[in-house]
Amino acid sequence: MSQPVSGATEAARASDFLAAARDILPWMIEIRRDLHQHPELGLEEFRTASRIQGLLDEIGIVHVDGLAGTGVLGLLRGTAEGRTVALRADIDALPLEDAKETSYRSQVPGKMHACGHDVHTAVLLGAARILAGMTERFRGTVKLIFQPAEETVGGAKMLIEEGVLENPAVEAIFGLHVDPGLDVGRFGIRYGQRNASSDNVHLTIHGRSGHGAYPTSGVDAIVIAAQVVTALQSVVSRNVDARQSAVVSFGTIQGGTQRNILAERVELVGTVRSLDQTTRELVLNRVRECAEGIAAGMGGHAEVEIDPSYDPLVNNDAMVEVVRESARALAGDENIFVIPRANMGVEDFAYYVSKVPGAFFSLGVRNEAEGVVHPVHNNRFDIDERSMAFGAAIQVLNALSVLDSPR
Ligand code: NI
Repeated sequence: MSQPVSGATEAARASDFLAAARDILPWMIEIRRDLHQHPELGLEEFRTASRIQGLLDEIGIVHVDGLAGTGVLGLLRGTAEGRTVALRADIDALPLEDAKETSYRSQVPGKMHACGHDVHTAVLLGAARILAGMTERFRGTVKLIFQPAEETVGGAKMLIEEGVLENPAVEAIFGLHVDPGLDVGRFGIRYGQRNASSDNVHLTIHGRSGHGAYPTSGVDAIVIAAQVVTALQSVVSRNVDARQSAVVSFGTIQGGTQRNILAERVELVGTVRSLDQTTRELVLNRVRECAEGIAAGMGGHAEVEIDPSYDPLVNNDAMVEVVRESARALAGDENIFVIPRANMGVEDFAYYVSKVPGAFFSLGVRNEAEGVVHPVHNNRFDIDERSMAFGAAIQVLNALSVLDSPR
């Protein structure tokens, strides 16, 4: 069972799985459209979780419920002991008004599956159904992770704390994301760094109030804040190695009460993004040192609060290679897009791949001829639903590649 399969065998096997996924495509579409009409925000995915549980019951897959509240873990065992592989889908929606005019548009005002997590869920159920029909053909365990709150608090971290990667220990993990920039039938892969880390920075600049006509009577927190903002713009250009990437952005600044009173206090809130832990620590240290040093040098002081948000997502190259082989067998080399640059957005799949080897990749869902071109987080976002067959088939192949590989 674990001897390497030849390219021809692999392609034959892949076309069987694609055919199986196409057979159940109407079922996946129905699930996706139901979830699409009933979007739920992070940690509130109760209806979604109960649908997933019901569908796993229907397929005959045992599951653990209530992880971090709304997470569901399906467990599928082959004929004998073996490796353990995990497949993950995020299940939460976004606070956005659905502006599409389709029969399956959101029925919940102000909430929408605008990031395709409904698709990820339906695709994982599709892969689960195919794998459940062939347990006699593999050994080991497939864990199906239905994860809440990707968009908000990083549900991945919570599920890991609840032990989804243990008992049995996960040896490899795969996750996918819909990509409306990539045509249906294509896959996007990226070796190494894929998504940035993010940290929230809250600066409070303290001065001393005084009359605006007599500036020596106080310490002007607004003038200090102006110097601090300007200086922090040089952290990326002067402190970060030019071959690395980072962003320092402040989105809000607030302070002062009246035109002729020196401001006593100014608050700034911003975000720091970087692609690796070394750069991340460097930037955060420099933000702290510059803000504190400049404020002190000007007679005030700065309080710097850094609230670590998501870790950078760094793919394991061997696992990316597994995805590449699966994509090649399914769709051919010409349909594999090697993503040239990492993305400064975040993705909480990062937490899984910081613990176990894994790969996060993109599923093409674009169909320009049918107007399916809107980006994620847009109120007209939609997909070409045929993409779901490719998604389910590639996850089946990824899982089997790991289970079939010799220990
Ligand atoms: Ni997303």
